[in-house]
Amino acid sequence: MSDYRLGRVSLFLLACFLTSACLVFWRLPTVRRFHPPSPKPARPKNASIISAQDMGITQEEWDRLRKACDWPGPDGEITRLDQSTSPVHTTFSVEGLNDTYKVGDTIRVTITARDHNNTVKSYGGDFFRAKLLNLTLKAGVYGEVVDHSNGTYTVDFLLPWEGQAQVDVFLIISSEGVHVLNKYFESKPHIRYHGYFEGPGADGVKIVEKVECNVKWGSAHAHWSKANCCCEYKDVQTGSVWQCERPRNLSCDYWVYHEHGEHQFPATPFERQLFSRKLTNVGIAAEKHIITVLPNASGIGEPERCRPGLTTPVPAGFYFQDVWKSFVCNTRRFNSQQRTSCLSNKILHFLGDSTTRQYFEFLERNVPGLKRMNLYTHHKNGPLMAVELKNNIIMHWRTHGFPLRFPKMPASDLHYISTEMDYITGGRETVVVFTFSAHMTLHPLTLYIHRVAKIREAVLRLLKRSPETTVIIKSGNTGLTAMEYGNEWYTRQLNTVMREMFSDIDNVIYMDVWQMTSCHYTHVNIHPGNVIISNEIDMILSFVCPS
Ligand SMILES: *[C@@H]1O[C@H](CO)[C@@H](O)[C@H](O)[C@H]1NC(C)=O
Ligand SMILES: *[C@@H]1O[C@H](CO)[C@@H](O)[C@H](O)[C@H]1NC(C)=O
Ligand SMILES: *[C@@H]1O[C@H](CO)[C@@H](O)[C@H](O)[C@H]1NC(C)=O
Ligand SMILES: *[C@@H]1O[C@H](CO)[C@@H](O)[C@H](O)[C@H]1NC(C)=O
Ligand SMILES: *[C@@H]1O[C@H](CO)[C@@H](O)[C@H](O)[C@H]1NC(C)=O
Ligand SMILES: *[C@@H]1O[C@H](CO)[C@@H](O)[C@H](O)[C@H]1NC(C)=O
Repeated sequence: MSDYRLGRVSLFLLACFLTSACLVFWRLPTVRRFHPPSPKPARPKNASIISAQDMGITQEEWDRLRKACDWPGPDGEITRLDQSTSPVHTTFSVEGLNDTYKVGDTIRVTITARDHNNTVKSYGGDFFRAKLLNLTLKAGVYGEVVDHSNGTYTVDFLLPWEGQAQVDVFLIISSEGVHVLNKYFESKPHIRYHGYFEGPGADGVKIVEKVECNVKWGSAHAHWSKANCCCEYKDVQTGSVWQCERPRNLSCDYWVYHEHGEHQFPATPFERQLFSRKLTNVGIAAEKHIITVLPNASGIGEPERCRPGLTTPVPAGFYFQDVWKSFVCNTRRFNSQQRTSCLSNKILHFLGDSTTRQYFEFLERNVPGLKRMNLYTHHKNGPLMAVELKNNIIMHWRTHGFPLRFPKMPASDLHYISTEMDYITGGRETVVVFTFSAHMTLHPLTLYIHRVAKIREAVLRLLKRSPETTVIIKSGNTGLTAMEYGNEWYTRQLNTVMREMFSDIDNVIYMDVWQMTSCHYTHVNIHPGNVIISNEIDMILSFVCPS
């Protein structure tokens, strides 16, 4: 069993957590009870409910998104821990296990979820991760878990390689845990942020004031006492509002730095138990089941050339000897010379978070002569820029706007992706790769939808003025495993929203790396290792230079 344990907090989260724990405790003004603002005339009764219009989408689209994000679960409140799914009693088996299979066959795995009394669950909603692996062959393939809403789940695995394979199933979060997360998402931010104001005090001496900041959105924003509310920073283009408590001495114009603050998951102590190490991210035991796969002369067909508008099948590909063989399109392998020639005369814009910074860093290490310029920014916070003069390669990276869980950095360096995109002229030489996921996992889904709607508008404007621009959306990674600090289940929901909202736009590339980060044999990590990043870069370059 212990081999299966994955209850390891990723380094990223650990770092966030440690820094917040180390922060000086900042005394908050007394927080008064929230009273919803008086409703606007045209609104339905409950003004705190976000409408499709608030999110900048149509009612039909909202219905579609809600349906896509619908997740089964318990009907009522959870009152006892023994009602929740037990990773110890939950089992899986391979249906009708045969002696041998051929490459291209599929196997079906059935997972039976049981509670702590060893009783089969009567409803669905457990979130599992399933993969088929062979460590010796450095091979892995993802399996999509289908929920039958009766405690039974099935996973169909393609057998894409020759040799042996074994199934791995993890209970990431129980249906009861998902229920608790769902309950609190729209109500309150799960994290605080800080703002630093710096400027001259009464006697001309520089003063620094640290206050609390957060997103202004629906009823899920922070509520400070009237005297302290608020400095509002509105992004004109998107209408997004970031709010800080009003500093006592300095005016709102002296806002200089942004910083993530403490986590404040609103669940009760009882509900928190559902997120304990023992119950989340745990491998499910099964009888030994070696699957032996023999060659099939015709094998699996070659996918088409990489281009925008392709959908991601399940499986999206598989690892073999650490090389990701994509079924989306024909992914090439690039050596450093080929990388240089592909990127020559290109301007790359990586936007988002540390997971696109990994792309920047990878190329910096693997494109000879690409040199980072000194922009006098922090090497992890950015913005960053690198150039290669011989072949005229220019590469930028910067984070997305608020909210962002980064260490202290200048607030003026946080640009909303949509706004940033409006300042990119675009063209045949321009490649924009963005991600928008990990830092949104502690905020309401409606906020996410609003932001994605704005990004979509900006992408459409970019493609209208410069249709030859390459726009790549990188999905969120697996590996947010600390549950109440951001979790894989919610990342998956965010990915669903992003994919759905761009599904009608043919000239963008949706690079779904969920499966790639989920089925590798290494421990999942929100910051995947070099092997995975290298394969992702090959995929990006295959879209930029398909032949
Ligand atoms: C689990 O078993 C205990 C002891 O037998 C019993 O009191 C409890 O009701 C059971 N819980 C469920 C959810 O069946
Ligand atoms: C397993 O073997 C049985 C009997 O030979 C056959 O009917 C079935 O299709 C096989 N299953 C798979 C997945 O190949
Ligand atoms: C090999 O696989 C292909 C597609 O997966 C299938 O159509 C074909 O029948 C298989 N060939 C053999 C010899 O099993
Ligand atoms: C659960 O539902 C599936 C699909 O409807 C069905 O095949 C299966 O027999 C059900 N299992 C139980 C234990 O009721
Ligand atoms: C992987 O497959 C090879 C070749 O089929 C086999 O010898 C080996 O035991 C397998 N390793 C694991 C860890 O399953
Ligand atoms: C800020 O203003 C208050 C009065 O409003 C004053 O008591 C305090 O000394 C000032 N602090 C600084 C650092 O200037």
